Amino acid sequence: MENKTILDKYLETAEQVDPIKCTGRIIKVQGLLIESRGPQAIIGEVCRIDIPKEKTIIQAEVVGLRDDIVQLMAFEDTAGIEVGNLVVASGERLSVPVSGKLLGRVLDSLGRPTDGKGDIESSVSYPAVADAPNPLTRRRITQWISTGVRAIDGLLSAGRGQRLGIFSGSGVGKSTLLGMIARNTNADVNVVALIGERGREVNDFIENDLGPEGLARSVLIVSPSNAPPLARLRGAYVATAVAEYFRDQGLDVMLLFDSVTRFARAQREIGLATGEPPATRGYTPSVFDSMPKLLERCGTSDKGTITGFYTILVDGDDMDEPIADTVRGILDGHIILSRRIAQRYHYPAIDVLASISRLASVITGPVTKKVAGYIRRLMAVYAESEDMIDVGAYHPGSNPAIDEAIAKKKPIDDFLIQGIDEKSSIPETLAAMAAIAEMEIPPEELGIYQPSESAAEKGNPEVENGSSGEQDFPGQNTSTGGSGIPESHRE
Ligand SMILES: Nc1ncnc2c1ncn2[C@@H]1O[C@H](COP(=O)(O)OP(=O)(O)OP(=O)(O)O)[C@@H](O)[C@H]1O
Ligand SMILES: [Mg+2]
Repeated sequence: MENKTILDKYLETAEQVDPIKCTGRIIKVQGLLIESRGPQAIIGEVCRIDIPKEKTIIQAEVVGLRDDIVQLMAFEDTAGIEVGNLVVASGERLSVPVSGKLLGRVLDSLGRPTDGKGDIESSVSYPAVADAPNPLTRRRITQWISTGVRAIDGLLSAGRGQRLGIFSGSGVGKSTLLGMIARNTNADVNVVALIGERGREVNDFIENDLGPEGLARSVLIVSPSNAPPLARLRGAYVATAVAEYFRDQGLDVMLLFDSVTRFARAQREIGLATGEPPATRGYTPSVFDSMPKLLERCGTSDKGTITGFYTILVDGDDMDEPIADTVRGILDGHIILSRRIAQRYHYPAIDVLASISRLASVITGPVTKKVAGYIRRLMAVYAESEDMIDVGAYHPGSNPAIDEAIAKKKPIDDFLIQGIDEKSSIPETLAAMAAIAEMEIPPEELGIYQPSESAAEKGNPEVENGSSGEQDFPGQNTSTGGSGIPESHRE
């Protein structure tokens, strides 16, 4: 009887043994690439590497398979790694635990909290790498989102679910502008991805740009420039996954992504290490494959919206460099910051005439469009004649359009220049524009103009806010806890 019990125990154990080899040993480490014999794993699978010498365990991802050799890249510093170290497959791809408790938290590129405020405690995870929503089920973009920045709201109006790029050379104000949007937007939730940027800027962003109130409705995903390329790459996906989670709760999410250039460079480093050929300006084909996949995940779905602002560093202010060119083609608008404008201490240094929001005409009312068009026209007239005016070659009275542009130059500049701490709601922005144009914008166009949505939603803030406010995140079987979403502050 007793023998049988022992046998049963062995049989039970044998049944539980997974015949697939889930461990392997490192056989080579070269640059970023780690090669191991085994484990049996698929591309994208997360593996654990034990490094006894440093008494650490690091996470890595399968990036290539060749015969029985598994090529891995680490998410973390590989100091102390040796041939013979154990590699254990997790059987899973990278995913991020999600819940309402993410608000106010700072995560690393693996979705782990790094702010010392404890675990996220969620039984629900979202995959870091996912497909974009089906284009046919995406809601049309019809509603205005407020960024709190006059030049954008007034002249480059953005819709909920729109994706815009912020392009400039270094030090012209991209990150500062993202900070202004994070603090002032009327989106329900901010997801801020700081990818490959300076580590120093992270605390600046949290303390200066967001402040306690902004942080409470934000989630930050941080993967600074000294993180391994895989961490920078996956940080971008984790941030997008977190934004998708909040979108699935029916919320309006603002994804602030700094920067796509660093994301592309991380992909390039990985591509080159795994033997891809350098194609356009050293960027490997996988860079151009991954960008649309990442950027298309943003936008509307059938549940909520993710409005995306993505920064792109343009080397030497060259807007035709391959990353800028590719991103511009994917996104629904571009905001160009100009060094020339910044040098005049005109901030935010948005070159309005060179920038475009492809959906501005859909989301703004007819009179607003007219007023914005009038201001743009005056700016264009002034820009064309600027050299003449500056050298005193223009004689007032000889061209009424130029006279008008000169007369309105200062009011327009006053409208466009905005201090970092200055917030402007859409009604305030429109009132200022109406004053410049000496026109009256009807009340129904102030705030949220909804040209083609159902009557129930039209201009009814109650209905509009229905998905936000005190949330218990319908539609998701999660432990969202009681943290909830703060009251949105819409016009
Ligand atoms: N709205 C603003 N008001 C006043 N100064 C500003 C403003 N925006 C930017 N600046 C100035 O420009 C500097 C650089 O800004 P910021 O770091 O945002 O640029 P960036 O484009 O993100 O640079 P990088 O490409 O190096 O990341 C700031 O330190 C600040 O001095
Ligand atoms: Mg920056």
